[in-house]
Amino acid sequence: MRALVVYESMYGNTRAVAERIAAGLAGRFEVTAVPVPEATVEMVDAADLLVCGGPTHAHGMSRAATRKAAVSAVVDKGADLPLETGAAGPGLRDWFPRVGSRLPAMAAAFDTRLDAPAVVTGRASRGIAHQLRRFGCRLVVPPHSFLVDKTNHLHSGQAHDAEAWGAELAAMAAAPRQEERAS
Ligand SMILES: Cc1cc2nc3c(=O)[nH]c(=O)nc-3n(C[C@H](O)[C@H](O)[C@H](O)COP(=O)(O)O)c2cc1C
Repeated sequence: MRALVVYESMYGNTRAVAERIAAGLAGRFEVTAVPVPEATVEMVDAADLLVCGGPTHAHGMSRAATRKAAVSAVVDKGADLPLETGAAGPGLRDWFPRVGSRLPAMAAAFDTRLDAPAVVTGRASRGIAHQLRRFGCRLVVPPHSFLVDKTNHLHSGQAHDAEAWGAELAAMAAAPRQEERAS
């Protein structure tokens, strides 16, 4: 079985999480992890499980304007953060309409966000999950957030948790569903 992990990332945190999720999935799936611009229709067609994640921007999924602000924070305002190739986009919001009709039956959503109650920060994974369901996917596990600090660095332990989440997701996706067992 094949899993495809598609992510957006401005400063590398969501990429790092995506790579660890991929490592967790690798015990049971053949896994490819790619940023949105590299996620082709062929890759989607070949996937049995799709895992999508992105950074929380302005309480939800990124938009062109928030990605521009993220780039500007580094380029114009001198924030000491690495800028990912492709940070300017396109993002998942642009990608879903292109591939929506071809998504596999099973999916999962994650995000990165600030370490504060979700009611305050918002969660990109909510919007991602909504898109996945809208295009007919079943969410194998609930959407999950991985946390960064105020300086945009992943909290310690989050990369480890991402790998564990990937392994749990793989186990759930590989297990026969109740209705399949009954038939
Ligand atoms: C323009 C912008 C808006 C943001 N808005 C939010 C927000 O509403 N809630 C939140 O928790 N984090 C917010 N953040 C912090 C991001 O979630 C954080 O930078 C991201 O998780 C880091 O992931 P990345 O390194 O993959 O880009 C924002 C960051 C930027 C650059």
